[in-house]
Amino acid sequence: MRFRCEACGAQLPKWAGRCPECGAWNCIQEVPEKPAPASRAGYAGMETAEILPLARIPPEQAVRRATGIGELDRVLGGGLVQGSVVLIGGDPGIGKSTLLLQASAALGREASVLYVTGEESPQQVSLRAHRLGVREKGVHLLAETQVERILQHLTDRPPRALILDSIQTLFTDRLESAPGSVSQVRESAAQIVRWAKGTGTAVFLVGHVTKEGALAGPRVLEHMVDTVLYFEGEPGSPYRLVRAVKNRFGAVNELGVFLMTDQGLKEVPNPSAIFLARHDRPVPGSAILITREGTRPLMVEVQALVDESPLANPRRVALGLDPNRLSMLLAVLHRHGGVPLFDQDVFVNVVGGVRIQETAADLAVLLAVRSSYRDVPLDLQLAVFGELGLSGEIRPVPNGPDRLREAAKHGMKRVIAPKGNVPKGGVAGLEILEVRTLREALEGL
Ligand code: TYD
Ligand code: MG
Repeated sequence: MRFRCEACGAQLPKWAGRCPECGAWNCIQEVPEKPAPASRAGYAGMETAEILPLARIPPEQAVRRATGIGELDRVLGGGLVQGSVVLIGGDPGIGKSTLLLQASAALGREASVLYVTGEESPQQVSLRAHRLGVREKGVHLLAETQVERILQHLTDRPPRALILDSIQTLFTDRLESAPGSVSQVRESAAQIVRWAKGTGTAVFLVGHVTKEGALAGPRVLEHMVDTVLYFEGEPGSPYRLVRAVKNRFGAVNELGVFLMTDQGLKEVPNPSAIFLARHDRPVPGSAILITREGTRPLMVEVQALVDESPLANPRRVALGLDPNRLSMLLAVLHRHGGVPLFDQDVFVNVVGGVRIQETAADLAVLLAVRSSYRDVPLDLQLAVFGELGLSGEIRPVPNGPDRLREAAKHGMKRVIAPKGNVPKGGVAGLEILEVRTLREALEGL
């Protein structure tokens, strides 16, 4: 065995916590004795490539097939692409195996699907399959964890789709380290990716992630695979979100929404309806944001609680938002909105466990914060979106008209939107206030 520093590339005879060459920590990885090149691995479909002028290569449309689960197809960019490798990461117990078993049922209606289980026994998988009503003839099961043996089973007749649950349990005999170690995970995945490209089989890899997202596993795979999906969910909430964070065949940040029931995962095709917790009466500290997840607008409630702080350094807590952005927004609110919060604790939460990654949430956050601070509720039928700049200006965000239509669809009456985001002629049924600065927005309330 050899070891190599990931940072500087130094070769070492044995593992060390710190690289003696460059001094970086935690960067020594085991590498295979012979870095077996793909051409020698000899999987079906592997040929020596030749150099061609780009202009002469005929473009090939990716062949997509619906998985039969609409929300999963949505995050995949419209279906499963042949020969693509999809990594599904998420906390243990979130529902990865459940989703893939349901997907294999749908795929197994027309073609053969192999579900390789390394974590559960075939009996356990069967028990779950019974509960989920999976009876399709095309679904096959294999309990095996050695990559070479798995691929050997498939040399003659590769299935349409291969599901590997999970990548942490797989190992290759090219390495001596334990299954689940970074080098094993990476080398096993590399072999599988090569095989998938060679045979045109679509592969799902399941990967567990810890809360820090740094566990030996999925993170090191992200650059190898075509698509990375993250399975998220709030503890205690039955809703599950599947987010595409990388997709060579579609849009990223696309969001699929599911409900975990005792009959498995059910699709939620109209997620605004669930994230938009409706209050009977207006309450202070709540603002309705029209955000966008991938190609779909989504209405969510942003809540804020502002309270006098006993601490010298008041707390700023952001759940579902970037905490640094919250600090910046509070500074803007003080300077350009005249709301002093230096002696106040500020908590902001996005309802339903949604994680907002776009700046269009800025205005909603500030309106919720101000509403809580002043103890004055916002209108129940008001929705907002818009990005804030440091000089208090409100900037337009992508896809304004889509957001406005979504608001109208969900019965909103008034929207505060950045100038430049409103289509000519407005949107039927909506009273839209176009604003250029934070001050205009606050006065417009
Ligand atoms: P699972 O798919 O095993 O999670 P993962 O593979 O990500 O570790 O899901 C396990 C959880 O889902 C478990 O806590 C039970 C729950 N569950 C249901 O609520 N309903 C169901 O029909 C199934 C199959 C699981
Ligand atoms: Mg599982």
